[in-house]
Amino acid sequence: MTTIFTSDTVGAHPSVRHRQLKAWVAEIATLTQPDRIYWADGSQDEYDRICAEMVATGTLIRLNPAKRPNSYLAWSDPSDVARVEDRTFVCSASRLDAGPTNNWIDPEQMRVTLNELFSGCMRGRTLYVIAFSMGPLGSAISHIGVEITDSPYVLANMRIMTRMGSAALDALGSDGRFVPCVHSVGAPLESGAKDSCWPCNSAQKYIVQFPETREIWSFGSGYGGNALLGKKCFALRIASTMARDEGWLAEHMLILGVESPEGEKTYVAAAFPSACGKTNLAMLIPPRIFAGWRVTTVGDDIAWIKPGEDGRLYAINPEAGFFGVAPGTSETTNPNAMATLKANVIFTNVALTDDGDVWWEGLTPTAPEHLIDWTGQEWTPEIGARMNRKAAHPNSRFTAPAAQCPSIDPCWEDPVGVPISAFIFGGRRADTVPLIVESRHWNGGVYLASTLGSETTAAAQGQQGVVRRDPFAMLPFCGYHMGDYFKHWLQVGKDLNPKPLIYCVNWFRRDESGQFMWPGFGDNMRILKWIVDRVRGRVGAKETPLGLAPTYEDIEWDGCAITAERFARLTRVDRLEWQRELELQAKWFEELGQRVPLALVLNHDSLETRITDAMA
Ligand code: OXD
Ligand code: MN
Repeated sequence: MTTIFTSDTVGAHPSVRHRQLKAWVAEIATLTQPDRIYWADGSQDEYDRICAEMVATGTLIRLNPAKRPNSYLAWSDPSDVARVEDRTFVCSASRLDAGPTNNWIDPEQMRVTLNELFSGCMRGRTLYVIAFSMGPLGSAISHIGVEITDSPYVLANMRIMTRMGSAALDALGSDGRFVPCVHSVGAPLESGAKDSCWPCNSAQKYIVQFPETREIWSFGSGYGGNALLGKKCFALRIASTMARDEGWLAEHMLILGVESPEGEKTYVAAAFPSACGKTNLAMLIPPRIFAGWRVTTVGDDIAWIKPGEDGRLYAINPEAGFFGVAPGTSETTNPNAMATLKANVIFTNVALTDDGDVWWEGLTPTAPEHLIDWTGQEWTPEIGARMNRKAAHPNSRFTAPAAQCPSIDPCWEDPVGVPISAFIFGGRRADTVPLIVESRHWNGGVYLASTLGSETTAAAQGQQGVVRRDPFAMLPFCGYHMGDYFKHWLQVGKDLNPKPLIYCVNWFRRDESGQFMWPGFGDNMRILKWIVDRVRGRVGAKETPLGLAPTYEDIEWDGCAITAERFARLTRVDRLEWQRELELQAKWFEELGQRVPLALVLNHDSLETRITDAMA
């Protein structure tokens, strides 16, 4: 028999005055048929209790408190390890509005499918209600969502990644607007059956956005952006449509501040595809030669950016935590991240050491002699080599509170946001794209960003290492037609004064033997410093067919072995490579169709002429 829940039986605390919210929870509970309903308050006690319950059921392993206080390790089902782009849908009323880069299904048809999938899907489980704010509570740039989920792992992660619970419910009041987000692992638990440590549905996954009604429905996965619905689904796919309609920007960008020894502060936002080093750049520690300079972190993944009354853009980080890629993170590559990970962390799919701590590839130069790998099996370096098995999954993650980061910017929770002086767009390209180029003007920068290409990584399921166009690093995250999104960027730029400068970077160029040519990490400060000096009008640049670039002398090289000859190769614009690249870029615009703004098509043509003329 199906239980009918009502606003009076959903069990909300009397202080929850939002009738529409209670009615919606009752409606979802009637559909999904959970055994219990639990309204999260967001307290430390609640977090500790939920984590203890997950330790008891085997979903979490408590790490050795002497090594990693208040921290846990989760191992997912091997079929549920990354975002599933081919199962992600943007169900706008018209297919045209979703555009060719999004999977689309007619919304009515999708609702029928979801209704079937969600019917009874929470049987045997608890339905958790998580009210959360994306952005500091009370900021005019922030927005509230409510996620209903049957996953305690999601609840624990959402407490780190967002401001959630009673404070968000209070902010909603009796009639505040919220984005409804429904999530289920899609694995009802029959009475008496033993639960798995990572329940999910390996046969059916649906990550669905309805842009017009601003709704999110996610079924079958418990992992990362598929399940923590405040992140990619809300803060990017849904928020990008809100931003288009309301004149702001929701972007896949880190936000950092560069502080000079004199205390001058310059904020920069930078877009890179998933697993291309955003977290490392956001927490960069400058090389010794930059004594007195500091990079501060506002956010590492998402930026919400609004035009201010003074004609500048102001950005907030809508998140409260970092959901970073573990492999490759170490004291050498990112000491600030390592300090952030000292306590209060949830690790997912990394390896367990014999003394109850965590390990992943790249954490130390050599692996420990013995580990339990992310699949729960014995692992030694010898087994790893023989079986070609990594100890940590390449997309293993840490979820850590942003406030714990030593480089966190003092203004990171400023409700007004921080003023953005420059945008950086970067891809992972072995060839063709130079280390750094500055666009001559806003529209040229929008062109560079809209044609950005990058090699795919383990952050999404599918083939890795193939170059795909990833405009603005938003390919999997834009909730509407890419052509309209480019138009929106052109439009937003029109009224800005001064307009932020726009840069394209490539840290990943390789030489003939396949080695990276640029050291990256802390040495990226050399490029950041040039950008800051450009913003401040303190340094020159030379013309290249792509835009403006630093000369060798413009960059601080002390402590770095890059010679003038190597720098020339790093910044080279090769005619044959660029003729091919421009063909691919033209093809990309053709794939996007009629909605690509004419200004960008003209930009392509003039770039083509410049490449041909300059190199004739
Ligand atoms: C992320 C991603 O998790 O981009 O941030 O995949
Ligand atoms: Mn990301």
